[in-house]
Amino acid sequence: MPKLRTVVVLAGAALLAKRALRRRIQGSPLWPMPALEEPVSGRPRSRAARLLITAHETVADGVVRLRLEGRQSGRWEPGAHLDVVLPSGLVRQYSLCGDPEDTSSYTVATRLVADGRGGSREVHEQLAEGMELEVRGPRNRFPLVEAPTYVFVAGGIGITPILPMLRALPEGAEWRLLYCGRTRASMPFLEDVEKLAQGRLTVVAEDEDGRPDLDALFADGVAEGTAVYCCGPEGLMDAVEERVPEGATLHLERFAPRASAGGAEFEVELRRSGRTVTVGSDSSVLAAVRAELPGTAYSCEQGFCGTCRQRVLEGEVEHRDELLTDAERADSMLLCVSRARGDRLVLDM
Ligand code: FES
Repeated sequence: MPKLRTVVVLAGAALLAKRALRRRIQGSPLWPMPALEEPVSGRPRSRAARLLITAHETVADGVVRLRLEGRQSGRWEPGAHLDVVLPSGLVRQYSLCGDPEDTSSYTVATRLVADGRGGSREVHEQLAEGMELEVRGPRNRFPLVEAPTYVFVAGGIGITPILPMLRALPEGAEWRLLYCGRTRASMPFLEDVEKLAQGRLTVVAEDEDGRPDLDALFADGVAEGTAVYCCGPEGLMDAVEERVPEGATLHLERFAPRASAGGAEFEVELRRSGRTVTVGSDSSVLAAVRAELPGTAYSCEQGFCGTCRQRVLEGEVEHRDELLTDAERADSMLLCVSRARGDRLVLDM
């Protein structure tokens, strides 16, 4: 069974409602998920390969597609992503959106985020055909499960993990897709999707159609066991999550990091090392700890992979991750996104 993924943390009754819903985010993958590797101290995840960029092309307004080739390209399953190590050292996760049967190359696409953290700008402006890139993976935390019927919702670049799913669904599978974007020209792979969908597609370009009517998406209810997949902006995923009917399972793929910064400054004692670091309001625990202990393991920096998980000895944690269960949260935290609720934490490191 795939690991259940935490979706949204809210307070009070809303939290309970969300957790009840979270328990529905489950199902049997059509393909086995790859086992997570053990964290590698001091380094992002291993299983690295260097691949050649053989295509760097614009496929929609603000969207670049990369084709990566190399001897170590291999099979992957729909929903999988690659960890891409950019020349600056930034590590970013990009969904594989090519053909899973093509074992000679990987294809990913990325949208330029003008006010982002720099990864997409580097992909768009500094990468070029002929350069080599280090990649890790593929890994799949968004597997396509077996279900009697499917509802897919994609926002913009969120179509990338969903496109291979549409290609992989068995002939005769019952599915429909709501694909939203700011404009048609900004929606990557729209033609591919239209060919695959054959009447099962609703396209909502906001400049022509306004906001998507998500209430209409489930207005007629869904069959028991329907799998709802959504990838896109946070607002879209939250809106879909609020509307998923009872009896459906919800599968979300988040790429935007939970904000790790923001909040009061606090101190973190690293008990075994005998050191104490200060985490500023504009920093993360991971950054502060790595300044003292550069060998601290990490990978995604987005609360997804679990590599940076550490045991908490004292203090209350404000968990902002997408991964840990309540039991795991009782005595550990992910350094890359979570913070202290009070003014001090003590870690077993
Ligand atoms: Fe991946 Fe923190 S580095 S969860």
